[in-house]
Amino acid sequence: MAAPEEINADMLAFWNGKGGDTWVARQEHTDITLTPVTDALLAFAAPRAGERVVDIGCGCGAPTLEFARAVGPSGRVTGLDISGPMLAEGERRASAAGIANIDWRRADPATAPLDEYDLLSSAFGVMFFGDRVAAFKNMRRGAAPHARMTLVCWRTPVENPWMEVPITAAAQHLPPQPKPVLNAPGMFAFADPEHVTEVLTAAGWAPPSFEKLDMDLDIAAGRGLEEAVVQSTQIGAVNSWLRNQPAEVVSAVVASLREALEPYSDGASVRLPGAMWLISSTPS
Ligand SMILES: C[S@@+](CC[C@H](N)C(=O)[O-])C[C@H]1O[C@@H](n2cnc3c(N)ncnc32)[C@H](O)[C@@H]1O
Repeated sequence: MAAPEEINADMLAFWNGKGGDTWVARQEHTDITLTPVTDALLAFAAPRAGERVVDIGCGCGAPTLEFARAVGPSGRVTGLDISGPMLAEGERRASAAGIANIDWRRADPATAPLDEYDLLSSAFGVMFFGDRVAAFKNMRRGAAPHARMTLVCWRTPVENPWMEVPITAAAQHLPPQPKPVLNAPGMFAFADPEHVTEVLTAAGWAPPSFEKLDMDLDIAAGRGLEEAVVQSTQIGAVNSWLRNQPAEVVSAVVASLREALEPYSDGASVRLPGAMWLISSTPS
C-alpha cells in the first residue's frame, strides 16, 4: 500500500479536481439515491436540539443539512471536508434553504484542531484517510466526554450489487485491474468490522458496535435506465477505470452496463441491493 502522505496527496487532488467536480455535478442524483441512507443515519445518530455536531467528509452536505435542521437554532453543525468544490456546493445549498447554523470548514480531520462536539458523524467520508488511526485520534480530541460517534460505511463489494453489477459489466472490456489491497483507502476500506475495531480502539475509541443496513438503492434516482447507466459511469470504480479509455471502449462499456442494469429496471427506477454498516462508538 502507498505511504499515508502519498494517499493523502492523491485524495486531495482527486476531491479538489475531477472527483469533486463530478460529485458536485451529480449531487442531486446521488442525494436522491442515498436519501434512505441519510434518513437511516439520522435515526441512528439521533441528533438532539442544541447539540454540537461535526459531519466528517461532509461533501456537498446532504446529511449536514439534516443535522442542522435537527439540532435547530440553538445547536451548531460543522461540515468538515478536504474538497473545496464540494464544500462550496454545500454552503450554496444551505444558504438557498435558509439554514444558518452550519460552519463549512475546509480542513483535514486528521490534523485540524477541532472544537468540542457532542456528536461526530460521517456518511461515507472516513474511508479515504491515509493514516486512519491518526485521523480517529484527532477526532477523539474533538469529542466531548459524553460524545458519541456514528458512521455509515459500505460493506464488501459482493454484498453491494449496485456497485458490483456495473463493475462486472465494465470489467470485461478493460485490461485486468490491479487486485484490490485489503482495507486500502477507498469505498470499501471499512467493510471489515475487525479492522474497523482495531483502528478505532487504537485511536482511543471504545470497541464499536455494528448494525447492518440493507436497502435497495435506486441508482436511476427515478429518472429511468439511461440515467442509471450515466450515473454508473460517473461515480465509483467504473468512472476511474474509464478515464483515458478510447471512445470505442467507453461505448462498449456503456452498452454492457445498459444490458446488465436492464433486468433491475422498473419504470423510472433501477433498484439494486446496497449493504452498509451503521457503526457507533464513544470515547474510551
Ligand atoms: C463519498 S463522498 C461522501 C460525501 C457526503 N458525506 C455525502 O454523503 O454525500 C466522500 C467525501 O469524503 C471526503 N474526503 C475524502 N478524503 C477525506 C479526508 N482525508 N478528510 C476529510 N474528507 C475527506 C471527500 O472530499 C468527499 O466529500
